[in-house]
Amino acid sequence: MQEKRKPYKGKVAFVSGGSRGIGLAVADKLAQRGANIVFTYLRSRSDAAKAEEKLAVHHVRVLSLRANMGNEDQVTKVFEMVKSEFGALDFLIHNAATGDLKPVLGISTDEWQRTQDINVRALLQCAQLAAPLMRGRHGRIVAISSHGSSRCLPDYSAVGVAKAAMEALCRYLAVELASRGIGANAVMAGTTDTQSLRGIPRHEEMIHSAKFKTPAGRIGHPEDIAQIVAFLCSEESRWIVGQTIVADGGYSIVA
Ligand SMILES: NC(=O)c1ccc[n+]([C@@H]2O[C@H](COP(=O)([O-])OP(=O)(O)OC[C@H]3O[C@@H](n4cnc5c(N)ncnc54)[C@H](OP(=O)(O)O)[C@@H]3O)[C@@H](O)[C@H]2O)c1
Repeated sequence: MQEKRKPYKGKVAFVSGGSRGIGLAVADKLAQRGANIVFTYLRSRSDAAKAEEKLAVHHVRVLSLRANMGNEDQVTKVFEMVKSEFGALDFLIHNAATGDLKPVLGISTDEWQRTQDINVRALLQCAQLAAPLMRGRHGRIVAISSHGSSRCLPDYSAVGVAKAAMEALCRYLAVELASRGIGANAVMAGTTDTQSLRGIPRHEEMIHSAKFKTPAGRIGHPEDIAQIVAFLCSEESRWIVGQTIVADGGYSIVA
């Protein structure tokens, strides 16, 4: 019974941006299933401390690290910590994202680059550092994407392009790492109720139209996305390879 309820007991999960929102829900779901958690955050130490408390309820080891996922040296240090503290890694969840929301003609090349670095270069670097730690452990890589990867959302060009590249990188990772037993997929989340959503200009309008168009009449909760990520970490998902799973309550299939 214990085995069934804690299928990830003894496993180690890394979640970028795990102090709140979707990242925290993912960390919580994996911890609930027994995984030890390492998560990063950027700005709020108090959110990270609250997240640590929440995760510790599951009697797993929790390590939070302040690190900018867009900074190569800081990401390297994070993985050095994972290696020294846990010696191995099972799940890499790249969730952290920030982006400059501007129209294509208004975005500077620095803003563009920063957005690509946090979203897609971080995934590349994390995967390169994670793969050796996953040796012999059926590792799983999951990246959180959005509709902006294939649709044009207002002022979302830099993030949208980064998300599209993330999804493509997941396909390459899945193909190149399959022989090592490592799986990689992306989850395309629909509008999800988090602090970052509520920070977007015109978010009330966005939420209203997403609720109206979604068959269930609501937007997503972070837990809705966490369920999918936890499934993609499981052995049962092994035949899903390099895919982008749409998790939006049916929003995108309604005309
Ligand atoms: N919410 C949505 O509607 C929605 C829809 C589709 C896709 N997504 C995707 O889902 C993911 C999570 O979004 P969310 O809405 O849950 O965001 P959120 O509530 O804003 O949480 C973001 C998390 O990432 C951390 N973070 C931000 N920038 C970071 C950086 N450079 N390095 C390390 N950590 C960083 C934050 O830490 P601090 O708070 O300490 O800075 C926080 O823990 C993102 O990839 C987003 O694109 C969200």
